[in-house]
Amino acid sequence: MANVTFSGPTLEKNVTVYAVAGANGTLLAVAKANNIKIPFECQDGECGSCLIKVTHLGDNAPKAIHLTDKEKLTLSVNGKLTKELLAKTEVEDMPPPYRLACQYIVRDEDILVEFSGEAGVE
Ligand code: FES
Repeated sequence: MANVTFSGPTLEKNVTVYAVAGANGTLLAVAKANNIKIPFECQDGECGSCLIKVTHLGDNAPKAIHLTDKEKLTLSVNGKLTKELLAKTEVEDMPPPYRLACQYIVRDEDILVEFSGEAGVE
């Protein structure tokens, strides 16, 4: 199980939900299932509307380190994934802070997910 805490202006206060890890469920799907309104459009990693900031909580190493090719491209085009951050992800297994909720597969780890309520803005 993963504890996923959502924080954003459409919420009166932060909301923590329990998500089943490893079921190929995306963060966007978890948000939708819990009526948390993260902006989205394409749901396919191409538009960047579902931009979020993810903070790994706890002492264990981050697990959600795999970015899809679409996620890498869209984040790069939007200036949220520099070459340095990509290198840290691929060499040091340190995921970048900005992600796409529709591409992020929930793993067995506790995370804070921040969103702005505006499409494409973290
Ligand atoms: Fe378009 Fe996630 S909804 S990139």
